[in-house]
Amino acid sequence: MAIISDTRHGQIKNAAKALNAGHLVAFPTETVYGLGADATNREAISRIYSVKGRPSDHPLIIHISSISMIDKWATNVPEYALKLAREFWPGPMTLILAKNILANNFSTGGQSQIALRVPNHPVALKLLLEFEKVGGLGISAPSANRFGAVSPTSVPDVLEELDCFLNDKDVILDGGACEIGIESTIIDCTQLNPKILRNGVVTAEAIEEVLGLRVKFNHSSNKLRSSGMFDSHYSPRAQVLLDSKAYPYDGFIAMENIKTPVGAIRLLSPKTIEEYARNIYAALRLADQKKISRIIVIQPKGKGTAVAIRERLLKASAK
Ligand code: TXA
Ligand code: MG
Repeated sequence: MAIISDTRHGQIKNAAKALNAGHLVAFPTETVYGLGADATNREAISRIYSVKGRPSDHPLIIHISSISMIDKWATNVPEYALKLAREFWPGPMTLILAKNILANNFSTGGQSQIALRVPNHPVALKLLLEFEKVGGLGISAPSANRFGAVSPTSVPDVLEELDCFLNDKDVILDGGACEIGIESTIIDCTQLNPKILRNGVVTAEAIEEVLGLRVKFNHSSNKLRSSGMFDSHYSPRAQVLLDSKAYPYDGFIAMENIKTPVGAIRLLSPKTIEEYARNIYAALRLADQKKISRIIVIQPKGKGTAVAIRERLLKASAK
């Protein structure tokens, strides 16, 4: 596949043409790298599933260039969802909405709802705009990793995951390392109140403040297919143990102020919660690269983004 590091106008145009021709384009977003396909092309979408090794009933987020594209995909959009879109898009937030009749079943993994997001990354936004110029309506893109594995936050990570599954017509756009580092907040907007299906840096507190509405949370009875359906996710090969004692040769991840236990191998020492989120996936990957077999992670405390990090860590540790 072609890796494009010079993401100036002409090159992104070519990537948009590749999408239009049914090829896959991996691209940077502010959260993690996505593996993109034309959201209206059944074959291209089915390639995403085979490249990722993902179950076919597990739906994909459709990325759009702006709020004005919502109506191309969704219907009966509640006022509170529009308010969220106006406040947080472009940004790390995905809205689950009722799909309209134009939205194909293969675009939603057979669900009657659709997941939409406007990413906040100049390369992603330019790609979406160029794609629209050649008739595109949106880009379906899951995180660019094999199913259940750690999400990629840089092009070397994407290559580590997918190099041998992509072909020479596919494209990777290099936008450097992702700024946020964990996936978007997913909010189900098909009910009276918003419901968080996956936590992210758009926090429950921020949503409640903007809307003046009570936010609900996902429970296992929820029928929507979301990340929570699978206990193990975001998993490195190494075993992840939370808040446990570390022994020599164990990998160790904790906030900077927590000392490394004797003999353990420090993988990450973030000074802030934001830095923890930005680098957690790279640290889990580093453990595998170093052939470490056990990682002890001291979880970050508190509300907000710490909640989203703990959600990822819990799934990374569920094996
Ligand atoms: O930050 C992100 O959201 C990244 C970047 C690339 O945009 N994407 C991402 O995609 O994390 P993925 O496929 O790894 O996770 C998307 C989650 C999945 O757990 C999926 O089940 C859920 O969104 N989802 C997608 N469409 C849905 C739908 N129609 N109803 C319910 N959940 C849906
Ligand atoms: Mg994913």
